[in-house]
Amino acid sequence: MKLWSTAKIRESKGVCKLPCLTAYDYTCARLADAAGIPLLLVGDSLGMSVLGYPSTLPVTLDMMLHHTAAVARAARDALVVADMPFLSYQISQPEAFRNAGRFLQEAGADAVKIEGGAFRASLVATLTENGIPVLGHIGLTPQSVNVLGGYRVQGRTREAADQLVADARALAAAGAFAVVLECVPPDVAAAVTGACPVPVIGIGAGPECDGQVLVMNDLLGLSDGPPPRFVRRYAKLDAVLGEAFRAYADDVRDGAFPSPEHCYATLD
Ligand code: KIV
Repeated sequence: MKLWSTAKIRESKGVCKLPCLTAYDYTCARLADAAGIPLLLVGDSLGMSVLGYPSTLPVTLDMMLHHTAAVARAARDALVVADMPFLSYQISQPEAFRNAGRFLQEAGADAVKIEGGAFRASLVATLTENGIPVLGHIGLTPQSVNVLGGYRVQGRTREAADQLVADARALAAAGAFAVVLECVPPDVAAAVTGACPVPVIGIGAGPECDGQVLVMNDLLGLSDGPPPRFVRRYAKLDAVLGEAFRAYADDVRDGAFPSPEHCYATLD
């Protein structure tokens, strides 16, 4: 049995903070799992972080299944949540249910994440009632970037903040085991967190949430260009990797690699 289940995540509310991360591949997921990260989100941010797309919209179900399976093979203790990509859950509930089920049945995920507030409550209920745990996602929902008019801070008016509180409550009432809250002012996040009976996991939402999630590439210093304001870089792997690649190239050009210890002996 894994250390982390949806029940344990839910019961963490008010008990301990949840440091969550995105993960897209076996190696990084193995290291994050071993470091004690309770929840690994295979985010559709992989479109930008790993695949070089300008947004999450080109990410397909097949891409998500492929990366989720790699992360699931690595996660001994962490809960693995697969992000349902654009068009995989919006068209109809039967289609959403079939696609969500594939993440658990074929890719080894423990749960799925879907974007949207109270208007998704009925889908969240259908999935959870049929054995598929759901992580909600409100605030800045990147799959709606074209409707929102850009990657903008959400919940800045009283009305919008009240709507976020209502959304979080509705998702929890429908069975979501936790809710991601993206890019809102800290006081709004505090109100949502206080009103929501399940953990609220913030990203760009200040310190009052029940947990935090960061895009792994941002945390490692591997993002393409400056990361958003809410990111703290815990490493500068871009410099470390660049230096390793340059040193290797220099050694090959100079004939310094391979050296005798890297060569096989003949038998006679
Ligand atoms: O796709 C993703 O990585 C996400 C997180 C930023 C919450 O949705």
